Order: sequence, then C-alpha cells, then structure tokens
Amino acid sequence: MAQEYRIVLANAGKIDPASLDDYLNAGGYKSLEKARAMAPKEVIELVRNSKLRGRGGAGFNAGMKWGFVPESAPVTYVVCNLDEGEPGTYKDRTIVENDPHLLLEGMAICAHAIRSKQGYIYCRGEYPYVVEHLNRAIAQAKQRGVLGDFDIEVRMGGGAYVCGEETALIESIEGHRGEPRFKPPFPGVAGLWGKPTVVNNVETFANLPAIIKNGAEWFASIGSPSYPGTKVFTLTGDVVNRRAFEVPTNTTIRELIFDLGGGIPNGKRFKAVQIGGTSGAFIPEHLLDTPLDFDSMRNAGVTLGTGAVFVMDETRDIVDVVTRIAKFFEHESCGKCNPCREGTFRSYELMKKINAGQATPDDVQKLTTLSKVMTKACLCGLGQAAPTPILTTLEHFRDDYQRRLLAAIS
Ligand SMILES: Cc1cc2nc3c(=O)[nH]c(=O)nc-3n(C[C@H](O)[C@H](O)[C@H](O)COP(=O)(O)O)c2cc1C
Repeated sequence: MAQEYRIVLANAGKIDPASLDDYLNAGGYKSLEKARAMAPKEVIELVRNSKLRGRGGAGFNAGMKWGFVPESAPVTYVVCNLDEGEPGTYKDRTIVENDPHLLLEGMAICAHAIRSKQGYIYCRGEYPYVVEHLNRAIAQAKQRGVLGDFDIEVRMGGGAYVCGEETALIESIEGHRGEPRFKPPFPGVAGLWGKPTVVNNVETFANLPAIIKNGAEWFASIGSPSYPGTKVFTLTGDVVNRRAFEVPTNTTIRELIFDLGGGIPNGKRFKAVQIGGTSGAFIPEHLLDTPLDFDSMRNAGVTLGTGAVFVMDETRDIVDVVTRIAKFFEHESCGKCNPCREGTFRSYELMKKINAGQATPDDVQKLTTLSKVMTKACLCGLGQAAPTPILTTLEHFRDDYQRRLLAAIS
C-alpha cells in the first residue's frame, strides 16, 4: 500500500504558518546557516549531486541550472515561479499556505549559491491571500534579520497562463506584456533586466532546506534514481480523496489514485486520467502502473508537468472534455507566434465540429497534422504542449471520436 512521504509538506498542519517562531522551533533557517558556511560553489555541487530536478514541469537538474550563472556576474536574481496557472494544480499554493518560510529559506539558499541580493516571487493573480501569507513571512524574516542582505519582493501576475513560462514571467516582472522570449539566451545568462537569473518552481526551492540538512545522498536515495525525492500531486475529478499528496517519485499512478486517492466514487469504473495539467496526456488503464517520475512518464509518452491529476470515470465524455481544453488554449495563446495563435484557434474549431457530430475522418486527419506541426513549430511550451490532449486521446480513446464522426476513420 503506497504511502505519503513528506519533505516539502513536512510542517503542514504541525506549525502555525503565520509564526516565524514555530518555523524556527521546527529547525527552520538552520539549513540556510549551514549553506552560508559553505562556499557558493560547494552548495551548487551539493544540489547538483542530490539530482533534484525542477518541479515546475521541465525537470531540469536544479544545481546544473544554477551552475550556468557566471561566477563573475556583479548582479544576479533569484525568481520563484508561483504562477501556478495550470487548472487543477494547487500544490505550490498548498506549500506556501502551510509553510511560507520554507520557500523563503530555499530561495535564500539559492541566493547564496549564485551570490544574489534580490529575489522575486511571481504569484498568480488569483492568489491574493497567498500574497498576504508571503508578505507577512517576508516582513517577519526581515525584522529578525534571518535573510541577511538578501531581499525578496512579491509581484502579482494578471491571470495569463503564459506568464508561468519563465521568460514571459520575466517580461511580466519587468512591466512588459507577458510574452515568451526566444531562447537562447537562457535566463541563467540573461534573464531579469538582462542579468543572470535563476527561475525555479516553489516546490523546487522548498526541497532545498532538507537537502542541505540531510545531504545529497539522502535525497538521491528516495524514490526513482533518475528523478529522486518526492512530488506533490493534486487530485481532482472523479476520485474519493481530492487533495494534495506528497509521495516518493517511484509511486505508480495506480497507487496514487487507488491507494491514496481512495479510487473512483459511487461504484463507477475508471476511464482515464490526465496528468500534468491541461496540456497533459490522457492516460488509459493499461498505463496506470507507470511510476510517477519524469523519465518513466516520458517513456510512456507522458509529461509529468505540474503534478495535476484529473481523474475521469466511465461517464466522462472524452471528446467534450478535450473540446473544452482546446477552448482554454485558444483563449490563453498569447498570440506572439503564428503556429500557436492560428493553431490553437483552428484546433478548437475542429474539436467543436467533431464534438457537434458534424466532422468527417478528413477533419480528424487535419487535426492530427495540425497538432503534430504545433508540437514542433510553436515558440514556447504553451503551443508545443497544447495538442497533447488531442493527440493522446486520438491514440488511446479513438472509439470516442469514431462515435461522433459522420463516417468511419480509416
Ligand atoms: C505555458 C507555460 C506555463 C508554465 N507555467 C508554470 C507555472 O505555473 N509554474 C512553474 O513553476 N513553471 C511553469 N512553467 C515552466 C517554466 O517555464 C520553468 O520551466 C520553471 O519555472 C522552471 O522551474 P523548475 O526548474 O524549478 O521547474 C510553464 C511553462 C510553460 C511553457
């Protein structure tokens, strides 16, 4: 029977998130002290050896990313991605609501490693109460002097999904329209105001105090070897326990949904699960024994994404769900690049036609070709991943499409 294993949610429900004393009594800010006694290079090496990989979607080795920041750079920035715009994801909010100082400590450890004096937390516009938690914690930390000369400011987004993409986020902090930049240069070399910048997800930063305290080997030994540690998943949809679970990364999808999530309610049968958020793959029953680590998921054609887990029972209409998702992307495309601006529009048009029972197999062929082009031609991950629900449901739930069409798919 799979069980939770808590690193980033270790204090959740145990300490008062509004109390710095509670955090300090639980051993808080000791890891920062320990990191500050080390050379910046040593901290980067330790984090690299822990094999901590980004928890915001792309799964890049955190220590390696920090290592791209030139040692000689006079000004560097630490940016925390708390945009969490992916529908069905609430893991970052859960971490910050329960333990805001854990995030601040993680950011300060990174700041020491890249010699940064200034950090920013980019918070989703729909989370005003989270900003309150953060501002209170920052004020407490400053008053007690625990952050030293590292300062942190919170910036709020305006509700655009694309602003979770790291370069669009940087544009938005700079006060510009949130549109992704061409890469390279990557933020580690030229990020915020052109200066070397580390952008990490909340959960990535929140793992750092435990890694510094317990060592790289300890972390690397938990869960799956190539993507070690834990991952917070948020369960939604047709599942008994709809909440956040932190589990070792070798936990399988089936264990998460059936052992921890309590299975499908009301005696219904499982039909599909979408992992990773709106741009995630739809997974059928035969893939449920895949471990929830980045590489196992990728080998199964799935991206781990943000950790959103949307469970669907046998009564869900897959084509209708995917049509709604296509509408979401048509709305959220920032319009900077043509393949995404036009592609998301046409995908939604074709999905509406299929959903209305007015499409032919030729329309499905057009949708497939368009989707494949978008995965290659779009500028950023929004357009590249938007077709994933379409392509994976066409692969695994083809009968659901067939039933809607005017003629048989060849
Ligand atoms: C459209 C889009 C939205 C994204 N939204 C988020 C988000 O809400 N939070 C997040 O941490 N990363 C998000 N990302 C990934 C970021 O670009 C970036 O990879 C991440 O913040 C890096 O942090 P990590 O290495 O700690 O995962 C998004 C990417 C794309 C393409």
